[in-house]
Amino acid sequence: MKIATILLAAGEGNRMRANIPKVLCPLGGVPLYVHAIDTVSELKASHRIAVLGYKSELVQQSFAEFGLDFRFAEQRKRLGTAHAVSVALKELTDFEGQALVMYGDTPFLTTGTVKSLIDAARDASGVAVLGFETENPVRYGRLVVGADGGLERIVEHKDATSSERSIKLCNSGILCASVDLLRLLLPRIKPSNAAAEYYLTDIVGIARARGIRCVIVKCHEDEAIGVNSASELAHAESVFQRGARRRALAAGAMLKAPESVVFSFDTRVADGATIGPNVVFGADVNVANGAHIRAFSHLEGCSVGENAVVGPYARIRPGTIIGPSSRIGNFVEIKASTIGQGTKIQHLSYVGDATIGDRTNVGAGTVFCNYDGERKHRTRVGNEVFIGSGTMLVAPLTIGDGAITAAGSVITDDVPDNSLSIARSRQANKPDYADRLKRLRTAGNR
Ligand code: UD1
Ligand code: MG
Repeated sequence: MKIATILLAAGEGNRMRANIPKVLCPLGGVPLYVHAIDTVSELKASHRIAVLGYKSELVQQSFAEFGLDFRFAEQRKRLGTAHAVSVALKELTDFEGQALVMYGDTPFLTTGTVKSLIDAARDASGVAVLGFETENPVRYGRLVVGADGGLERIVEHKDATSSERSIKLCNSGILCASVDLLRLLLPRIKPSNAAAEYYLTDIVGIARARGIRCVIVKCHEDEAIGVNSASELAHAESVFQRGARRRALAAGAMLKAPESVVFSFDTRVADGATIGPNVVFGADVNVANGAHIRAFSHLEGCSVGENAVVGPYARIRPGTIIGPSSRIGNFVEIKASTIGQGTKIQHLSYVGDATIGDRTNVGAGTVFCNYDGERKHRTRVGNEVFIGSGTMLVAPLTIGDGAITAAGSVITDDVPDNSLSIARSRQANKPDYADRLKRLRTAGNR
């Protein structure tokens, strides 16, 4: 069976009050719409259409960043969800099969649910709508069930009578029908409602009037959460985090205080890894087996090797690879760097644009001075190097294998293998000067 997916993502998201399109608001570290698309990636749809409108160039850019291969349909005037689907149909002139309509603001659907919806639409040769029951229907459309148990119509909250508002069975917005049916029914939808919009939901009443079957497939209310405002986004984030923690635990990661760990959409924590309290994962982090991320660390765009220890209070930024069995300690920031096996950077250091070998020790308070005010430069540090505490490594620079730098040095030139480099002014001790100085001060204070 051929499938086309139509993602509606043209809306401005007025209720969100953000200055970016609603579908770009982040959930679990990636834009809302990416979650929706991920759900249908397994369907192997032959056609994938995204309806864009408000700031569509920003949304297209985001699709490109995530490597998502979609055809875009431009909805210049946002006249409603039915109008948005009609715009998508113009991109489907060469398609026959089932069309799955999804909303970019509905992130938690599961692939299994979507598959059952497609099957139900096919079996009914009609329209299948995904519904859910909730004690708090707030502003969702309500599914009105007819005497025969089938779906009779959908009424939007704004247009509902008080008895219709007491219905707890709601519309998720996701529906499936053949493209032929959509072509037949959509032109019949009129904007005769409180919002003066072309409502996709009206398709059900129109289908029924023509004897076309409309069926409901139910899902859990958490799957159907639609995000329209900042508070709904915050609620969705908490639902996302709950799920991500559950999945990490089920996969064998040890979370010491699960409720305090913040995950991203794509965080990968291997079984046998330990995550301490209050750890925050930005996008694209991979933690290997046996690694330990200690409390209050913030990681983004990096991988942590087997049995490595990071934190507490470490900040690992994009482009960083931390080798197996290395130790990254408190108040260490690392950016765009590769750290070898068994290397230690334990305290208060900044490592930027560096490649560091194996079994090297970077002393407390070391700074990789990678920026000259205009450009970034790289530093290479070999294997079994000892960087003394408080060393300033002014890039571009190469420190050879087995080299040592003296504490407090400002290293501006390359250091050959096995050399000791001292780059600081010589110490002068002045006997009894301390006493003299104190006497002079006391005299001055009189
Ligand atoms: C919609 C449903 C409602 C359902 C709810 C579930 C309609 C009329 N109402 O309401 O029954 O309970 O979702 O979350 O469908 N969009 C466009 N072009 C437009 C209008 C909207 O692309 O002209 C897109 C939006 O970007 C959004 C999606 O369609 O991703 C849904 O629109 P939204 O305004 O959020 O509809 P709801 O009021 O949530
Ligand atoms: Mg919505």
